[in-house]
Amino acid sequence: MQFDVVVIGGGAAGLFCAGVAGQLGLKVLVVDHAAKVAEKIRISGGGRCNFTNRDLDPRAPHKHFLGENPQFCRSALARYTAQDFTALVQKHGIPFHEKHKGQLFGDRSSEDFIRMLLAECDAGRVERWQPCRVEHVAAGAEGYQLATDRGAVSAKAVVIATGGLSIPQIGASDFGFRIARQFGLRVIPTRAALVPLTFDGERWAPFSQLAGLALPVRISTGARKEEMSFDEDLLFTHRGLSGPAVLQISSYWRETQPLRVNLAPTHDVDDTLIAAKSRSRKLIANELLGVVPSRLADAWVAQDAAWQRPVNEASDKSLHQLAERLSRWELVPTGTEGYRKAEVTAGGVDTRDLSSQTMEARQQPGLYFIGEVVDITGWLGGYNFQWAWASGYACAQALAASLHRQP
Ligand code: FDA
Repeated sequence: MQFDVVVIGGGAAGLFCAGVAGQLGLKVLVVDHAAKVAEKIRISGGGRCNFTNRDLDPRAPHKHFLGENPQFCRSALARYTAQDFTALVQKHGIPFHEKHKGQLFGDRSSEDFIRMLLAECDAGRVERWQPCRVEHVAAGAEGYQLATDRGAVSAKAVVIATGGLSIPQIGASDFGFRIARQFGLRVIPTRAALVPLTFDGERWAPFSQLAGLALPVRISTGARKEEMSFDEDLLFTHRGLSGPAVLQISSYWRETQPLRVNLAPTHDVDDTLIAAKSRSRKLIANELLGVVPSRLADAWVAQDAAWQRPVNEASDKSLHQLAERLSRWELVPTGTEGYRKAEVTAGGVDTRDLSSQTMEARQQPGLYFIGEVVDITGWLGGYNFQWAWASGYACAQALAASLHRQP
């Protein structure tokens, strides 16, 4: 079997790239080892797919992307923008809405987006094999030879779009990193990102009763100069913390580093308590009701006997301490929930070994890497999909330009 391009991995980046390349006249095969393609799109955005973000500024990728060199994604993001993808969604008649902070979601179901990508592939006469295992990839003078469990395949170019390590239950694998190493590309060590954080069981016990409670917070990590902060919702879980605030900060958090959480970011808790002391005889927990949810207020005052009394009987010092603890809660996670629960994988194929214009390996012509397998990680909010679309588009354009030139 002979193709111009074999795309390994039929997820967001792979399907999109295949559709564009096929429509540019290339003979494209997509191979995926899972029985169903695009499973991550299916479960994304709570089943609604947060497909892009209006706030993405391609001129400043460091604002919403991490990696050794976030500037790497600038060119691709500028050439295929959130507006471009949104126009495609509109062309397919998929209804969508903005949730908040520029996040665009489908109104109905993620299935709409999978159908759209498959329709784009059909329009490009893309062939799909799944489930199909790729056992071996070899480069020769004539291009690439692949051994698969459906037989041998040869192609002028190979695109690796196998994503990261998160959610192995639905097909994630380290295939892309192994192929990168096989062809001499460097791989930045990977870690789970956009992931819930866990805490020491015994020390967490007083807070485990708060499981299910969500509230808006400001969360920060890192030393002063490199401090990262997010204003988002935090969710208490049985084992630790989750919710958008924690998922976002988890991408920046490093082991042993503390997190700082302001549990009442829109209140001056100190002022509130000191003012209450001069006019109220209510319990401190009751005075906190306008500041934080009541379950949190109760759990908070339970940490110190000095806080379990009427506010007028409390010392100024203990009120200051309580205010400080609520607005600057410092805690050190013991770890993360790992790839099993992570939305993405940080790290990956080293961008120094790829062209930012084409996604082609610098030292291995005809071998391309797109999407999450690359050391580019977006914030929560549609940024990871936009990277998948943009890197897939840049790659497809480059493939067409290069293969149409060849005899
Ligand atoms: P993706 O993971 O989509 O696809 C990789 C494909 O390669 C899979 O089909 C897999 O089966 C296949 N594959 C793997 N190993 C293989 C092998 N050895 N041989 C053949 N095929 C192989 N992002 C966002 O922007 N908005 C959102 O709403 C969400 N929501 C979300 C929810 C959850 C629960 C998760 C886990 C993730 C998200 N994300 C997200 C992140 C987003 O899903 C992710 O960044 C993209 O899907 C990455 O696209 P890729 O195509 O690179 O990999």
